[in-house]
Amino acid sequence: MWPQDCIIHKRDGGELSRKEIYRFITDYTSGNIPDYQAAAWLMAVYLQGMTPRETTDLALAMAHSGRIADLSTVPGIKVDKHSTGGIADTTTLIVVPLVAAAGVPVAKMSGRGLGFTGGTLDKLEAIPGFSTQLTTNRFLQQIRQHGAAVMGQTTDLAPADKLLYALRDATGTVESLPLIAASIMSKKIAAGADAVVLDVKYGDGAFMKTPAQARQLAQQMVDIGALAGLPTCAVLTSMEAPLGTAIGNSLEIDEAVETLSGKGNSRLTAVVEEIGSRMLYMAHCTATVAAGREKLQAVWKSGAGLKKFKELIRAQGGETGWIGKHALTQAPFVYTAVSTEGGYITAIKAKTLGEIAMRMGAGRAQKEDVVQPMVGIRLFKELYDPVRPGEPLFTLYSMTEDNLPQLALQAAAAITVDAQLPNNPASVIGGS
Ligand code: URA
Ligand code: CA
Repeated sequence: MWPQDCIIHKRDGGELSRKEIYRFITDYTSGNIPDYQAAAWLMAVYLQGMTPRETTDLALAMAHSGRIADLSTVPGIKVDKHSTGGIADTTTLIVVPLVAAAGVPVAKMSGRGLGFTGGTLDKLEAIPGFSTQLTTNRFLQQIRQHGAAVMGQTTDLAPADKLLYALRDATGTVESLPLIAASIMSKKIAAGADAVVLDVKYGDGAFMKTPAQARQLAQQMVDIGALAGLPTCAVLTSMEAPLGTAIGNSLEIDEAVETLSGKGNSRLTAVVEEIGSRMLYMAHCTATVAAGREKLQAVWKSGAGLKKFKELIRAQGGETGWIGKHALTQAPFVYTAVSTEGGYITAIKAKTLGEIAMRMGAGRAQKEDVVQPMVGIRLFKELYDPVRPGEPLFTLYSMTEDNLPQLALQAAAAITVDAQLPNNPASVIGGS
């Protein structure tokens, strides 16, 4: 009997046919399968896993549960990039204008932050006037005219994923490789780009705790892309420590402006180069990834990336008069903590800092929560930097005075200062 047979088939370790997968997703999306049966099915998938073929069929079924975006009115090869979710990860805000300034169109559909990771839409909305609510026509028009646009995912984009993700969140079935891979790739397929560069995070602040797990997830998504006719490549990057030095929406905009001006921290800059060079290569703008890197660096150095960032902000209604004059972040209460010890920064717990920033109002615990654009944490040091006693470690930006000293103590506890550097410091790119 349907859908019990499908649940039992997977529960007992069977391989689901394409027909079974499409029917299950179609029936669930249209409300003909109730949540309790879908929840049992998800748990069966979580426990038994899926073959690459099943995972691809799941991604395609979810992608086709709604409309597939049509970007054909934008000339050129459109590339998309996607991160599996990071802390102080401002990569999109920096790489989109750089790649667009290099001549490759970027159609970026972004999400909001949930939990301790940030979302690109929330960051951009910290800019006064900036609108992420574009109609599809205006989105396409802006890409044709300015080379890039960023908008929220439309509600008809992979609706099965929206339903399944909420159910997974409530049933302990989020951390499943095939379910994560199908979830992400369904949205990439539906978003309509011609090529995708994935940034798969590993470490304390990511879904995947080890580079080996991240590699497996990356491989699954690259395989789905290949089988679905969407050229996809992946970069593995560390979320063992925050990527940039800013955690919080307007603070991350400030960091993006600084980085585009050539004053960024080294980890964030390295990841932007790694992803941006692959975007240029995947769009056939350069013949090799190495040439993509050179092109990206040249655009960056010339100031064209920053100029493009301002152009894109203005195109979406945002104010740019503050850029180059003062920081966007203007919070009424600030609290700076200094180091009591000297030595080297050997650990910065990304997840802990993300959670503190979230409690200050930078992120959402619940989907309905409203974010405070101006709050968060700005680090003065990155991983492996030297530090002297009395040197500032970070500043908290807050809308209230409450708890600031306690929050600063908690944040300070997330940062380790040792007398010596570790013997083999981990790099931000790759993993083993
Ligand atoms: N991001 C997604 O879009 N889906 C997942 O399942 C996990 C992370
Ligand atoms: Ca993201």
